[in-house]
Amino acid sequence: MPRRRTDVPPLEPVAVVGAGAVGTTLALRCAEAGLNVATVTSRTNRSATRLARTVGASTVPLIDVDAPVVLLAVPDDAVATVARTLADAHVDWRGRAVAHTSGVLPAAVLAPLAQRGALALSLHPPRALPPGSNARALDGAMVVLEGSDDACAWGDAFARRLGLATLRLDADAKVRYHLALSVASNFTVTLTALAAEILGSAGVPLPDALALVRPLVYSTAENLAHALPERALTGPIVRGDTTTLARHLEALEAHLPHLVPVYAALATETARVAVRGGRLAPRAAEAMLDRLGDALHDET
Ligand SMILES: NC(=O)c1ccc[n+]([C@@H]2O[C@H](COP(=O)([O-])OP(=O)(O)OC[C@H]3O[C@@H](n4cnc5c(N)ncnc54)[C@H](OP(=O)(O)O)[C@@H]3O)[C@@H](O)[C@H]2O)c1
Repeated sequence: MPRRRTDVPPLEPVAVVGAGAVGTTLALRCAEAGLNVATVTSRTNRSATRLARTVGASTVPLIDVDAPVVLLAVPDDAVATVARTLADAHVDWRGRAVAHTSGVLPAAVLAPLAQRGALALSLHPPRALPPGSNARALDGAMVVLEGSDDACAWGDAFARRLGLATLRLDADAKVRYHLALSVASNFTVTLTALAAEILGSAGVPLPDALALVRPLVYSTAENLAHALPERALTGPIVRGDTTTLARHLEALEAHLPHLVPVYAALATETARVAVRGGRLAPRAAEAMLDRLGDALHDET
């Protein structure tokens, strides 16, 4: 049966389930946008009370959550269980929207609620939100939606009310979407830590190492903000400087041999980006790839 116009859920009041980093950030953003955050639920009273006080909400146990909008910002492993508990509660879920904030899970994980009439969607803010993040952490963010047409239309209106643009994805894209974000965000952190480790092996203390590396990471991000990755690339690989690449590998082999495989893998992909951008001749790339292959072969 087609959904009647009156079944479209309102944008508030909002119930937040999970008073962690994302639940707090979204609750603050809702409050800032003038949306009524009515209740907060969390695993512990402490987290729930802290957030509830901040946004002027009350705390309720999960089985008493009863709002037209429910944001589930609980750990990925808890989403299905929380959804089942909510679906079993004595609530008429028709005309309500329930969104989870997991990047990797599909909206279908909320099936028990959808079966009871709720609009179920995945509403993911693609931002790294450490504990203590505030509403500003979502400035300029694009919220990624996945679910039925109706659910995404509601999600789009909700996100726009928070001042956020949206992008819609299919369910089968979600794992690769989350993988891509993890590569970009997590590995930037890992690569910064690796750079500091390499400097540490050369006797540079950690604070100085980070003082050297951080501005480079920021300026690289700045370059990426205005250019394709192929254009933002600098360094020996895009210059076709095989001698410098060989020196890097020798230094790693001598001092940090455990980093040879990761360096070789990343240098190989860097050469591919450089060739794709037309800035490294395939023949020059081949010489590099041969040297990288030798390094990996020696390693095994
Ligand atoms: N952090 C990020 O950068 C980020 C960005 C986008 C999306 N996400 C996604 O957003 C979701 C939440 O992540 P997060 O980083 O906010 O995690 P988090 O900081 O660990 O917060 C999770 C919250 O859920 C609560 N919780 C755990 N089990 C629960 C249950 N059974 N019922 C009710 N509340 C429960 C915890 O309660 P207590 O505090 O009371 O123990 C905690 O406050 C995850 O799906 C994550 O993948 C995270």
